[in-house]
Amino acid sequence: MIEKINHLKEKIETYNISNSEMLENYRLKFLSKKGELTELFDAFKLISGAEKKHIGQQLNNVRQEIENKFNEAKEKFSTSTKKSNLISDLSLPISAFKIGSSHPITNVKNEILQIFESIGFSVAKGPEIEDDWHNFSALNFPENHPARDMQDTFFIDSTSSEKYALRTHTSSVQVRLMENSKPPIRALMPGRVYRNEAISARSNCFFHQVEGLYIDEAVSFADLKQTLYFFVSQFFGEREIRFRPSYFPFTEPSAEMDIYLGTATEQDYRLTKGTGWLEILGCGMVDPNVLLNCKIDPEKYSGYAFGMGIDRITMLKYGIKDIRQMFENDIKFLEQF
Ligand code: DAH
Repeated sequence: MIEKINHLKEKIETYNISNSEMLENYRLKFLSKKGELTELFDAFKLISGAEKKHIGQQLNNVRQEIENKFNEAKEKFSTSTKKSNLISDLSLPISAFKIGSSHPITNVKNEILQIFESIGFSVAKGPEIEDDWHNFSALNFPENHPARDMQDTFFIDSTSSEKYALRTHTSSVQVRLMENSKPPIRALMPGRVYRNEAISARSNCFFHQVEGLYIDEAVSFADLKQTLYFFVSQFFGEREIRFRPSYFPFTEPSAEMDIYLGTATEQDYRLTKGTGWLEILGCGMVDPNVLLNCKIDPEKYSGYAFGMGIDRITMLKYGIKDIRQMFENDIKFLEQF
């Protein structure tokens, strides 16, 4: 038996493995179920007596040797295939890294923030999952207001008595800000909002808004108008604008602001529905009820607020015809910005 083991040892030591095919032959010959090692182990089972222990040790040694040689060779062949893929000339210049670009919505958002920051606005943020109070009640939405309806709002299943929803507008951040700070407050609040709407080229179930809020003593509608004039002149250049009376539960009086684009691009984007005017934001004087809800004295303070959609302005700026394109993550589209 010992002789046979020694013989196998010799064979292993002299066995030459120089490619993967030989490695497989080696495995079959020595390591497989029908291989020489198994044969010896089978014979070993029949041995009894004092030598059994010694022979067992020798057998285990040879098995270890066989396996070591197999593993070493395996390693060598796998690394040699890796090596062949490596660039052999390390002085060659590397190919340029592909870096991402900022999203068109991010560009426009930053541009808007910058304009308002230049006249003293700071930036605030709030949560996208919002409770009923901040999204609706504090903003003076009556209990049965249609905007609370399931059709517009994505409610969140909750086991608590508090109702939660994905915020439908960034106006909820106004409330948080007024609750947590003292006037004067002059802030811009950008963020993503969600509405349960049919998806089309012009509307999506989520989009982006920037909210503006200024609360101080003796703030007037004239302040609001001048601030928005300034914004339009900086962002769009000298454009005609108009304010139309409107209604929002949280402002009184309320207005919507349109800018005049003309009808030249009309066939392309059907943006202005043939009128040349495009609505870009809602605004107004903060309703005294909202101030009261946020523990701000409406006798002492007044303020204005506005909210604009970033997506539409982005589409306008870059001539993007379908809102959905901005969220498909198509690299060919995104690389253009
Ligand atoms: N929250 C309104 C919306 O999503 C937009 C808005 C209108 C915001 C008037 C305001 C405002 O702050 O004063 O349609």
